[in-house]
Amino acid sequence: MSLAVEVAGLVKYYGKVRVLDGIDLEIPSGTVMGLLGPNGAGKTTTVRIVTTLLRPSSGTVRVAGVDVLKEPARARTRLGLSGQYAAVDANLSGFENLRMVARLYGMTPKRATDRADELLSALGLEHAAGRRAGTYSGGMARRLDLAGALVCRPPVVVLDEPTTGLDPRGRLDMWRVIGELVDDGTTVLLTTQYLEEADLLADRITVIDRGRVIARGSADELKTSIGGDKLTVTLATGQDPTPALQVLSGIGIGEPGVDADQITIVVGDGTRTMVEALRRLDDAGVCVVDAEVHRPSLDDVFLSLTGKPGERKKPEPAPAELQEEILS
Ligand SMILES: Nc1ncnc2c1ncn2[C@@H]1O[C@H](COP(=O)(O)OP(=O)(O)O)[C@@H](O)[C@H]1O
Ligand SMILES: [Mg+2]
Repeated sequence: MSLAVEVAGLVKYYGKVRVLDGIDLEIPSGTVMGLLGPNGAGKTTTVRIVTTLLRPSSGTVRVAGVDVLKEPARARTRLGLSGQYAAVDANLSGFENLRMVARLYGMTPKRATDRADELLSALGLEHAAGRRAGTYSGGMARRLDLAGALVCRPPVVVLDEPTTGLDPRGRLDMWRVIGELVDDGTTVLLTTQYLEEADLLADRITVIDRGRVIARGSADELKTSIGGDKLTVTLATGQDPTPALQVLSGIGIGEPGVDADQITIVVGDGTRTMVEALRRLDDAGVCVVDAEVHRPSLDDVFLSLTGKPGERKKPEPAPAELQEEILS
């Protein structure tokens, strides 16, 4: 397994404030790493260092085998960065923006034109190619900015909160585009404060808070780490729960809880345990009318790790130009 990004012992001081306190990250090639954390956790500082825009106080970063601190110019050729605030020229059309970036990278006029067309269509912006970028909705501007980062087909793409502030449609469009990137084998480092985004897009998640890594693993591993699944069994109304309780306390972790006709226990592997539990309940002559498994959500994980609920900001209302776009 080759690593596309290796970050070790990253420390950053702003004055006397230690905003990064020893961050380690390893991203295997062709995978998506979700860097998840609340506002001010150090996500942007981390990605700015990884993308050569900021020097750390100490620590090392390698991108596609290149030492970012020793050879920043070479590292930049392997990186695409798309930020939280789209950096597009509002006075140029979408096509002109991309063509300009391609020309800046030294492509011939013909290749630059072809690449701009290709990216506009890949990011679902063909219909707006000739329009001034200043008239784009937030989601469209963000996708145009991402297109700019993809012009040279970098093997590693870094996305800093790609969907923060987008309305639901903009968010879905961006998720689709990111999914397509990954299908092409691009390695993605994605920061987010949205748990569902990390859950959906990331192969592995690193949770940071106050400049430190507080957990890492796949979404599944993180969910399992805070305790197992919950299995809830509903008995036929009025049935004596004693035999069911006897069966279930032998299966779960800890004691079962009873609420009216429902019995809940914490179990290791919910789905497998449910099958076993139902079989044993049936053998004991218990009449079960319903059974369900509840996986802890990443929200539960976040709350248990940071003591704070995950960010659940209301999406902003669709801007007027997006409404226009939907209507047109
Ligand atoms: N240029 C700066 N000067 C001083 N402090 C900064 C600067 N940039 C960020 N910080 C501080 O560093 C911490 C991490 O910020 P940041 O990396 O932007 O977090 P995130 O992207 O996770 O919201 C915050 O406390 C922030 O206030
Ligand atoms: Mg940030």
